[in-house]
Amino acid sequence: MLDPKRFLTALKNMGVDEYVFAAKDGPTLAELKKTVLSCERCPLASTRKNVVFGEGDPKAAIVFVGEAPGEEEDNQGRPFVGRAGKLLDQLIERIGIKRSDVFICNVLKCRPPGNRDPEPREVASCKEYLLSQLDIIRPRIICTLGRHAYNTLLEVDVPITRIRGKMTVFRGTPLLPTYHPSYLLRSQNKIKDAWEDMETLKEMLRGR
Ligand code: URA
Repeated sequence: MLDPKRFLTALKNMGVDEYVFAAKDGPTLAELKKTVLSCERCPLASTRKNVVFGEGDPKAAIVFVGEAPGEEEDNQGRPFVGRAGKLLDQLIERIGIKRSDVFICNVLKCRPPGNRDPEPREVASCKEYLLSQLDIIRPRIICTLGRHAYNTLLEVDVPITRIRGKMTVFRGTPLLPTYHPSYLLRSQNKIKDAWEDMETLKEMLRGR
């Protein structure tokens, strides 16, 4: 058994002055994805075409969290690839980064039929996957899209108009709630608020 004190001293002598202790008890993102792809925890397993685990940089500084896959996402097994996805891509570009630089996922990993709101039992079944994704990626900032993602993570029930743009902290990570891109497609007058939020994310990434 290695003496921890001597081990740390040895690291220091080798010039290592910063280290991260990685707990080896949780799954990797790839392992989690494998589990989620075969999930049958709720009835959406029987109506989905594809599980939409999420995609992007596993070491992303920003994780965007949406509500649930829509029809196009269900068809392709990828998040935000429909009209709302195109708008999300534009929002991400305003931060000065690319879609592939962030990680994008949803509260629900399977499409609710007809794009209805997620049901509480579906959220209850799926939330653990989202929490694990955030635990594994450990982003610098979480950006929730719309009220469902915010209310699910914070375990509250507040309208998006009340909290949008107001920074909070989720389990030690700064969290910025903004509007859902689908809502922005219907309410173009709100887009400047979303741009403002992207500006906030940009400044946070710069460490301001
Ligand atoms: N809306 C969402 O909330 N998520 C998607 O992936 C697509 C549309």
